[in-house]
Amino acid sequence: MPTEDKHILKLDRQVDKLRLTRSFESSSEGRKVMEEVFDNLTLGVIFKLTCEKRISTVDFPVSTGKEGNVFRATAPDGTLVALKIYRTSNATFKNIAKYIEGDTRFKGLTGNPRKLIYAWCTKEFKNLNRLEQAGVRVPHPTRFLKNIIVMDYIGDEVMAAPQLRSVQLEEPAKIYREIVRFMKRAFQKAKLVHGDLSEYNILIHEGLPYIIDCGQAMLTDHPNAIEFLKRDVKNINRYFRNLEVKVWSDETVLKYVQGVREK
Ligand SMILES: Nc1ncnc2c1ncn2[C@@H]1O[C@H](COP(=O)(O)OP(=O)(O)O)[C@@H](O)[C@H]1O
Ligand SMILES: [Mg+2]
Repeated sequence: MPTEDKHILKLDRQVDKLRLTRSFESSSEGRKVMEEVFDNLTLGVIFKLTCEKRISTVDFPVSTGKEGNVFRATAPDGTLVALKIYRTSNATFKNIAKYIEGDTRFKGLTGNPRKLIYAWCTKEFKNLNRLEQAGVRVPHPTRFLKNIIVMDYIGDEVMAAPQLRSVQLEEPAKIYREIVRFMKRAFQKAKLVHGDLSEYNILIHEGLPYIIDCGQAMLTDHPNAIEFLKRDVKNINRYFRNLEVKVWSDETVLKYVQGVREK
C-alpha cells in the first residue's frame, strides 16, 4: 500500500474511534487529527467563515477521505452545516490534476498545486449548484472559500445520513428510478456526468437519495465523459440488481440518460 494510503487509513481509524467516543476535541488523538487537518492556511479560512457568520463551531469529523475531510459544523443560528475541507498537500494535487485537465472551464490553470486545489473546490461548488438547478437532489451549497466548501448538512442532531450502501431500503425500485432520473437531469440539463456515482456517494435521508461528492463531475463534452457515464450506470445497475430490483439494461439506461431514442 502506498505511504499516502497508509497514512489515510490510519487517520480514518482515528476518526472512526473518535466518532464512537464523541469526545473529539478533548482527547489527545482528537487534537492530533485536528493538527493534521487544520494547517495554518485552513485555520485562516475557518476563521474567515466564522467572521462571515457562516459557522460558529466546528463540531466533529464525519469522514476522512483521500483528498480531504468532511466536518459537521454549526451556524450561529443553530443550523447544522457540512464543511468539506480539501487537504492542501501535493498528494491531493496529483489525484485531482487529471480531472481538471480535460475541463474547458479550467483552461489555462498553471501547475500551482494550491491554486489547483482551490479550483477543484470551485468546481465542486459549481457542480453542486448546476446539479441543484437541474433538479438533482444534492446538499445545497452555500459558500466556497479556498479549500473549503460549506453546504447543507444531510442528517440530524443525532447522526449524519448514512450512505446508500448501509441502508436497508423500503422501496429500492423507487430509489433506483429516482437515481436514474437524476443522472438524466444531470446529463441533459446540467450537462454534467457525475463520474464517481456509486452506493458510497449517495446518502439516504428521510427515505430520499442525495447525490454527493461532485468534485470530479465533468461536462458532457469532456473527452472521457461517456466512459465515466458508462461506469456510473454500471455501478448503479449492479448495486440495485443485487437488491433484486428489476433494473433496465446498462444500454437502455445509457440511452435514456443521454436522451437517445430507442429504435
Ligand atoms: N453534506 C453532507 N452532509 C452529511 N454528510 C456528508 C455530507 N457530505 C459528505 N458527507 C459525508 O462525508 C463522506 C465523504 O464525503 P464525500 O463528498 O463523498 O468526499 P470523499 O471525496 O472523501 O469521498 C460521505 O460519504 C458522507 O458520509
Ligand atoms: Mg465520496
